[in-house]
Amino acid sequence: MKTTISEVSKYVGQEVKIGAWVANKRSSGKIAFLQLRDGTGFIQGVIVKTEVPEDVFLQAKSLTQESSIYVTGVVQKDERSPFGYELLVHGVELIHHAVDYPITPKEHGTEFLMDHRHLWLRSRRQHAVMKIRNEIIRATYEFFNNHGFTKIDPPILTGSAPEGTTELFATKYFDEDAYLSQSGQLYMEAAAMAFGKVFSFGPTFRAEKSKTRRHLIEFWMIEPEMAFCEFKENLEVQENYVSHIVQSVLKNCTLELHALGRDTSKLEQIKAPFPRITYDDAIKLLHEKGFDDITWGDDFGAPHETAIAESFDKPVFITHYPTSLKPFYMEPDPNRSEVVLCADLIAPEGYGEIIGGSERIHDFAFLQKRLEEHQLSSDAYKWYLELRQYGSVPHSGFGLGLERTVAWISGVEHVRETIPFPRLLNRLYP
Ligand code: 4AD
Ligand code: MG
Repeated sequence: MKTTISEVSKYVGQEVKIGAWVANKRSSGKIAFLQLRDGTGFIQGVIVKTEVPEDVFLQAKSLTQESSIYVTGVVQKDERSPFGYELLVHGVELIHHAVDYPITPKEHGTEFLMDHRHLWLRSRRQHAVMKIRNEIIRATYEFFNNHGFTKIDPPILTGSAPEGTTELFATKYFDEDAYLSQSGQLYMEAAAMAFGKVFSFGPTFRAEKSKTRRHLIEFWMIEPEMAFCEFKENLEVQENYVSHIVQSVLKNCTLELHALGRDTSKLEQIKAPFPRITYDDAIKLLHEKGFDDITWGDDFGAPHETAIAESFDKPVFITHYPTSLKPFYMEPDPNRSEVVLCADLIAPEGYGEIIGGSERIHDFAFLQKRLEEHQLSSDAYKWYLELRQYGSVPHSGFGLGLERTVAWISGVEHVRETIPFPRLLNRLYP
């Protein structure tokens, strides 16, 4: 029976055939252990010299790292294995003999591994991170589909810049100027007025000259937008959504979290509601923690976010930032025009901001004024303003950065390991 490693539990005691790669091999005169992977999982194959024809044993012993094979054998339960099963191998059919696979079981430097990202993806660790990423994406669709949201795809090539003009990737659109999307938000606002509750999931681009463990040039964002939704309700959607993805990973990625050595007790407590702290109180908290330099009106850097997050064991919303720190579209607090109805969600354990969101301005004249203040051409934003001319309603939304969320949940240090082929300040290869 041809099957995959992920399905072997259905065939205990039966003979199966699996297409696999040899991740590693150990052998002595009498027995060989093959660490096999097939993309769906990992399993150990055991070949005992006295139980197979001599050529099969010799063939197995001569297998090199990353050679591809069809392997046949009987599935056995194995309590000692983290995967629960092993394969008692009877036959090995070589498909391709790999010579000098560059990533050996010894330690390699990060730059070397990044140069071999196309191969590094095969490793147990990278496989686990990508599986967790996949589970977060699956749970995202599940959450928003279950809560009445419609998936809408905003364009990638645009003429507008929701998050400020300094970090845009400019390109030519025939003879017009265009940019790669830095956020689909403005289009999602149009979509919310047509479909009520919408979400997008797609790539976004920021020509940020930042070289930190939290910054990618190309990253994926989930951007929900809701009509008839005010500030407070927006935060409730966010905490329920983030709880759902964390609990889904805990439930469906036990092997992966184990492979990464993730402390899952920290994730188990990630359940809504999440704490909220205003920007004003966050400044006070930072002063208490010895950050004397920061004053009202300053933006928070990574060390500030980490220090604030340390006071909580769940993600924390920092709300009501100064208007001057945030983009043009955010609705001011009606009682205090110097702050906006926004929140950043800061992940625990130093992973920083994973969500930025806000209520949006829905008054036509006020939005027009804000666009002027930000020197954004009213031609490019004409359509966006028109959303405020025909049945304008209070609406809110947010953007969750997928890679930072994967980094936090997986417990990996740097976002470069959370996307298959990272685009970094100095890296477009492979
Ligand atoms: O806070 P940001 O810039 O918000 C927006 O783009 C809004 N328009 C979203 C919305 O309301 N629809 O980005 C949102 C999130 C951040 O919290 C962060 O998680 C992630 O996107 N992010 C990045 N992730 C990796 N690398 C970068 N350079 C990132 N910049 C933002
Ligand atoms: Mg932000």
